[in-house]
Amino acid sequence: MASDFLWGGAISAAQTEGNQNRMKKQLSNFDILPMDARRLKLVYKDDHNNIFNTYETDHHPSERGIDFYNTYEDDIDLMHELGVNAFRFSISWTRLFPTGEEDVPDASGMNFYRRIVEKLKNYGMEPVVTLSHFEIPVNLIKKYGGWSSRKVIYLYLRYATTVMKEFASSVKYWIPFNEMNMILHIPFIGGGLVFESDENILQREYQAAHYQLIANALTVEIGKKINPDFQFGCMLAAGRTYPYTPKPEDVWAANLNDRNALLFSDVQVRGNYPTYFEYFCKVNKLQLDITSDDLKILSDNTVDFVSFSYYSSACSASKSEGLEHVATNGYQTLKNPYLSNENSVWQNDPIGLRITLNQLYERYEKPMFIVENGIGTTKDKLVSGKVHDSYRIDYLRNHFEELNKARKEDGIPVIGYLMWGVIDLVSVSEGKMSKRYGVVYVDLDDMEQGSNKRYKKDSFYWYHDYIQQQIAGG
Ligand code: BG6
Repeated sequence: MASDFLWGGAISAAQTEGNQNRMKKQLSNFDILPMDARRLKLVYKDDHNNIFNTYETDHHPSERGIDFYNTYEDDIDLMHELGVNAFRFSISWTRLFPTGEEDVPDASGMNFYRRIVEKLKNYGMEPVVTLSHFEIPVNLIKKYGGWSSRKVIYLYLRYATTVMKEFASSVKYWIPFNEMNMILHIPFIGGGLVFESDENILQREYQAAHYQLIANALTVEIGKKINPDFQFGCMLAAGRTYPYTPKPEDVWAANLNDRNALLFSDVQVRGNYPTYFEYFCKVNKLQLDITSDDLKILSDNTVDFVSFSYYSSACSASKSEGLEHVATNGYQTLKNPYLSNENSVWQNDPIGLRITLNQLYERYEKPMFIVENGIGTTKDKLVSGKVHDSYRIDYLRNHFEELNKARKEDGIPVIGYLMWGVIDLVSVSEGKMSKRYGVVYVDLDDMEQGSNKRYKKDSFYWYHDYIQQQIAGG
């Protein structure tokens, strides 16, 4: 196997950096994520659960995160020891542009990211940078309704352009938006959207999505002028939807569920809205602000690779009442009787990774990049400095087998594999530390109490050895 394959780990700013010392001068949407993150599915202005009203009384795990702002050097040393040759992290818009409206970035914030990139490069690790990983300055939510406003495109571009210029010669792989399709499931986190209780939610979600798609395309346009070698990826929360039964109605339901995600990559990769979306808008009476200039921007600036997260497949039926549901990434899906979630919060489906890689490659024929995958579990226990996570080793082994089949038997070009939450971090769906993904254990509990020390889990050594074998051509 070629050694230019990227084996790595991935994290995001909001889930790790923390802000205890108030180095970040304003809050982002994620900073106000309460511990019971499920409450954030839909945020209403007049709801008594309104996130702004309860800010003072909620517990906010991301305030400490894993204190990556202060521990990044040791954490990157650990990544080097792990033997990875790539590391995905995100830049916090708010750390650089606290209100989102400044003309110049905060110098100390920029220095922080400069030091991270330098350290990665010194170790020969490829930085993979996400510009917006579930973050938008709170000021832009209050003033413009988050991504509901076209104005935010240009504020985002000021931020994105500044970062791309700063790292013009040191970063090649860029992901302008994390999991864009999440705006349909967790719109406050995905787009800073707060709704009136009587409004047409779909209208606003798809409008905000359109503005993000334009921002994505303009980032590609500007980025290619800064450095034509930059490579841009879409990023979707993927995982093929299976029909619950072979009944044609169930197959159709599964197709429809997949469109929720694929719409976004369809636009980013092919450069136009698919016909099914025009009809979707008609049926749902959506009237979107999409100009002819917008359509040209989309068609002129498509992405270079298809990056995605894969945690599990989903399952749909035409009638799902009375059937058991389970959580998956961002929403509830039908429990698949052939899959287990014995050791993980979400169902475990390694073959689904091969199926999803094939689904996306058949559709787009662009290089694939798995930028998130891993097992989120509450089973990790730290005992005498050790974590015996054999289930994580099994998970990785099984997923890597399917990845190898996709590459070697199906001929799919894959740029790399980045393990999500390679160092434990705050979960988005749970808003807690106790759903852990890492091969590195972080000693913090759900109330963010603990030593914050790092411990290598058994899976750390396993992943290390696996990568070494692969790089050596084994
Ligand atoms: C993806 C996100 O949705 O899944 C990550 O890009 C997130 O930010 C990951 O952490 C796992 O989800 P969760 O809810 O277990 O944190």
